[in-house]
Amino acid sequence: MEIIVKDTVEDMSKTAARAVARILNAKPDAVLGLATGSTPLGLYKELVRMHKDEGLDFSQVTTFNLDEYVGLTQNHPQSYHYFMHENLFKHINIPKQNIYIPSGTTDNYAAFCAWYEQRIQQCGGIDLQLLGIGSDGHIAFNEPASSFGSRTRIKTLARQTIEDNARFFDTLDQVPIYAITMGVGTILEARKIILLANGKNKASAVASAIEGPVTSMITASALQLHRDVLYVVDREAAGDLKMLEYYEWIQAKMVDAP
Ligand code: PGA
Repeated sequence: MEIIVKDTVEDMSKTAARAVARILNAKPDAVLGLATGSTPLGLYKELVRMHKDEGLDFSQVTTFNLDEYVGLTQNHPQSYHYFMHENLFKHINIPKQNIYIPSGTTDNYAAFCAWYEQRIQQCGGIDLQLLGIGSDGHIAFNEPASSFGSRTRIKTLARQTIEDNARFFDTLDQVPIYAITMGVGTILEARKIILLANGKNKASAVASAIEGPVTSMITASALQLHRDVLYVVDREAAGDLKMLEYYEWIQAKMVDAP
């Protein structure tokens, strides 16, 4: 596990964007796992800038999004389909047929979930998975007590998540109660994972995920079991890390490592 602490959200976003670009430059047909929410907005903005100014190419890239609200149509302004289109896809040269996002409106969720897992496999698996973290420690919508072996399925959102996400809706009642989400087991199969977090309200979840026990009560703690995880967090989100000085020492010394 590598932990990079940045002073600003902008630095956090640029660091993550450079890591994505490195992967795309090495493997132009990489499969990316994408996240939504406020956290990756700066990263997507930077990827769009890199595409426009530096020719970062998405023409062979395939993407799989983590999750979607059940019941929201693709053009609903709070759907993750809409979010991805507005914040990334419409600004880059990714072919439409290479974009996969869980459906929030299928009439057979079990079949859709099985198909989604199968598509990930058929596309060669996820090379790089981007993640945010919920204030309850969730990754994607894997709420507390989600099995580390879980696959894409329907999840009931925790009250905490509904309250956290109410800021995007007019009223609390409008926040969907169910979501379709990749499982912890699905996420752990990605070859590389980058988790981003910023802001004070993430400090406790970040500290539990990195320094706490591995427990399904904090599903991000499952990442301790993965061999290639990079955390890029801002100083506020790093606020509760007990070993912060150690992580910064490692980062400073890594530059000259043999
Ligand atoms: P946020 O959501 O980026 O909007 O804070 C993160 C998450 O719930 O995973």
